[in-house]
Amino acid sequence: MAERIRAVAGREVEVVRTGSRGMLWLEPLVEVATPAGRVGYGPVAPEDVDGLVAAGLLDGRGESLGLVEDLAWMRRQQRVTFARVGVVDPRSAADFEAHGGCAGLRAALAKSPAEVVEEVVESGLRGRGGAGFPTGVKWRTVLGAAADVKFVCCNADEGDSGTFADRMLIEGDPFTLIEGMTIAAYAVGAREGYVYVRSEYPDAVVALEAAIALARERGWLGERVLGSDLAFDLHVRVGAGAYICGEETAMLESLEGKRGMVRAKPPIPALAGLFGRPTVVNNVLSLASVPAILADGAAAYAALGTGRSRGTSVFQLGGNVARGGIVETPFGITLGELVNDLGGGTASGRPVRAMQVGGPLGAYVPVSQFDLPMDYEAFAEAGAMLGHGGVVVFDDTVDMAAMARFAFSFCAKESCGKCTPCRVGSVRGVETIDRIRAGVDREKNLVLLDELCELMTDGSLCAMGGLTPMPVRSAVRYFDEDFEGAS
Ligand code: NAI
Ligand code: SF4
Repeated sequence: MAERIRAVAGREVEVVRTGSRGMLWLEPLVEVATPAGRVGYGPVAPEDVDGLVAAGLLDGRGESLGLVEDLAWMRRQQRVTFARVGVVDPRSAADFEAHGGCAGLRAALAKSPAEVVEEVVESGLRGRGGAGFPTGVKWRTVLGAAADVKFVCCNADEGDSGTFADRMLIEGDPFTLIEGMTIAAYAVGAREGYVYVRSEYPDAVVALEAAIALARERGWLGERVLGSDLAFDLHVRVGAGAYICGEETAMLESLEGKRGMVRAKPPIPALAGLFGRPTVVNNVLSLASVPAILADGAAAYAALGTGRSRGTSVFQLGGNVARGGIVETPFGITLGELVNDLGGGTASGRPVRAMQVGGPLGAYVPVSQFDLPMDYEAFAEAGAMLGHGGVVVFDDTVDMAAMARFAFSFCAKESCGKCTPCRVGSVRGVETIDRIRAGVDREKNLVLLDELCELMTDGSLCAMGGLTPMPVRSAVRYFDEDFEGAS
């Protein structure tokens, strides 16, 4: 595409490949910088280029989408973590700096480590990987742990179905993640960090490794970060395709070169993590939110959101949805606003029937709960979870008993095998749902299913087995007509 634009331009033209703005139905989106702002064209196929250039694309004329910032999808959002994604050249440290990059790190280095930790505590930032644990409190534990060696590890093993925000951030603005990890290192006293990226994200690996090399050249990583006394360096490690390595202790095992098996907690990684040392383990989005918090102050971040869910969250719309992509808004937007107003309903044009929020271990939410605010506590009260912010939409043709079966079969496939409720329970779950769907002893098997879910919830060592009952139980609760045993 870039080659074609240059070839037909008839004049010198700079074409920069950016990350995505998150409007996936408009990709490939071409933006043209004009004095009024960036004018968008999309989706653009290579064969469209000649006609668009002839019609004045290079000057922002012809049949365009108008100013990108004025598109309804963009105006509805408040981008903090994703402010630079789709805007900057992810391969240019200079562009990053020109768009406010490193301001958070400079602000952090002007404070003491304890002050940085308290700033993050006051911002109200909670872990975006899914569990929602307060990030600053986690850092406080690592800062307070007496040890000669500490680590910062970024969990980029984004295995949840329907989630892709970590990937988009790394591919579109990798320096922000590096900056966030460097701030974390300063705050807790770490000299070394690792980013654990899933193998399914080869472009993210390339983008991150290139950014780390440039950051070293610029003195943003290394012996004297930005001329300060901070010494910190980063390494990328690529996973081997196991979902369970997104669980923090399995990830640490994998980073240590072992098979990705879950460790019992306690001890928590904050006290005994990588190689037994105090370790910050945070998701990509948690760490990438930190630079803005330090640059603009905790109060500005905490002013956004609702209840105990402060700041913004990055939601990912996927599945059977007309306009899928990335949406960053303050917490509190409703599920219906996300799916209908931003997502435009289903791609099939049929009525929405269910949404799975929070990945494959998240609940299926019926349309009667469209007014549920995207907020950790509101979702927990409704028997659901926000997880990593993925929203997968299903229309009225979905078979919810089949989806419940999928939850168990997914768990059976991805279980690390360490504990019995998960390893065996998931297999028994598939069999039980098969009997219900076949109409065999329906009532008896529904009771058995419920007992199995309770056992897995209470007896599993980690969230894999412990949360698999969530989609199953929500499917039975809200869509019991699909468990009539007709199939
Ligand atoms: P958890 O509730 O056990 O822990 C949350 C975090 O807080 C952990 O990092 C833990 O080490 C830390 N922590 C707890 N007490 C602490 C203390 N006193 N001081 C410092 N740190 C402390 O949750 P877990 O098992 O780590 O994560 C479960 C979540 O992961 C689920 O809710 C699910 O949404 C999410 N998940 C995300 C996936 C993704 O692709 N992003 C995939 C699968 C699950
Ligand atoms: Fe492993 Fe499953 Fe037990 Fe987690 S719940 S430790 S994935 S067997």
